[in-house]
Amino acid sequence: MLDISYFEKLFNGTFKVLNGLPRYIALEQVQPEPDFKEKLGHLIGVGKSNKLQYISVLIQKTNNDYSNILITNGFEHRSSIIEYTKDLGNIEELPCEFQWKSLENELTEKEFKDTWRQCMLYSDNKPSTFTMAQHLEAVKSELGNNWRNSCRVFLKGGKPIGVTIPHMEPGTTDEGRLFYFGLIPEMRGKGLSSSLHKQSLQFLREMGATYYIGSTQATNKKMQHVFIRSGCMLKSHMESFYKYF
Ligand SMILES: CC(C)(COP(=O)(O)OP(=O)(O)OC[C@H]1O[C@@H](n2cnc3c(N)ncnc32)[C@H](O)[C@@H]1OP(=O)(O)O)[C@@H](O)C(=O)NCCC(=O)NCCS
Repeated sequence: MLDISYFEKLFNGTFKVLNGLPRYIALEQVQPEPDFKEKLGHLIGVGKSNKLQYISVLIQKTNNDYSNILITNGFEHRSSIIEYTKDLGNIEELPCEFQWKSLENELTEKEFKDTWRQCMLYSDNKPSTFTMAQHLEAVKSELGNNWRNSCRVFLKGGKPIGVTIPHMEPGTTDEGRLFYFGLIPEMRGKGLSSSLHKQSLQFLREMGATYYIGSTQATNKKMQHVFIRSGCMLKSHMESFYKYF
């Protein structure tokens, strides 16, 4: 059985290592890694022998050397990603405009997966290759013990209108992220996205986050607008690569 802490030690903070075992391992670049080629080669070898389905790697956009190493090792470019950030220290306290429920109280896994599936329809992000069961598995394995509290659905008139998955980034004590954020198609274009996103940032602050990092694909202009409307600042341009076994 693969132990994710082995890879955390191997990359030693230069790449964040997200736990999608037994299906995948995801790397996110934090700092330059002088031994990227060797360490990636090692990860691929271990991944292959342990029957991982895929490895994903997120790198800083400017890093052509890493792109070449990834392509040479059989990775495919998937998307360009834009990251935004916001200090949550002094966000304005808003009354919670929308009701919500989570998998920890009242919401069933079926209801959550149904709403999440609808929220992903016609997104300006590339369609996912995961089934809904696999999406939920990814939340469980990456977020750990508190995952049920993170899985939330917003309601209007008692009906689900959107999904938000606020969580503390694994391995940190103060970084807040949204594993997913989206509205069902009928609720889009009505000016609701901004309030729901601001409410999600408030959830993060209640969970103890002092800052937020959000990301979306470069093609998703609407989501970038949502970040800006919430007062987020552009942080970085990243490129994502996938290798399937
Ligand atoms: C992304 C999403 C939450 C945005 O919500 P929405 O209700 O569709 O968006 P809105 O109509 O409120 O538009 C948001 C902003 O983008 C702007 N916008 C809309 N289309 C745009 C475009 N093509 N280019 C630039 N800006 C655009 C709007 O004017 C609005 O800005 P404003 O609030 O300053 O007026 C929603 O479309 C969604 O759930 N999509 C599917 C899931 C998804 O992609 N989630 C993000 C995953 S990272």
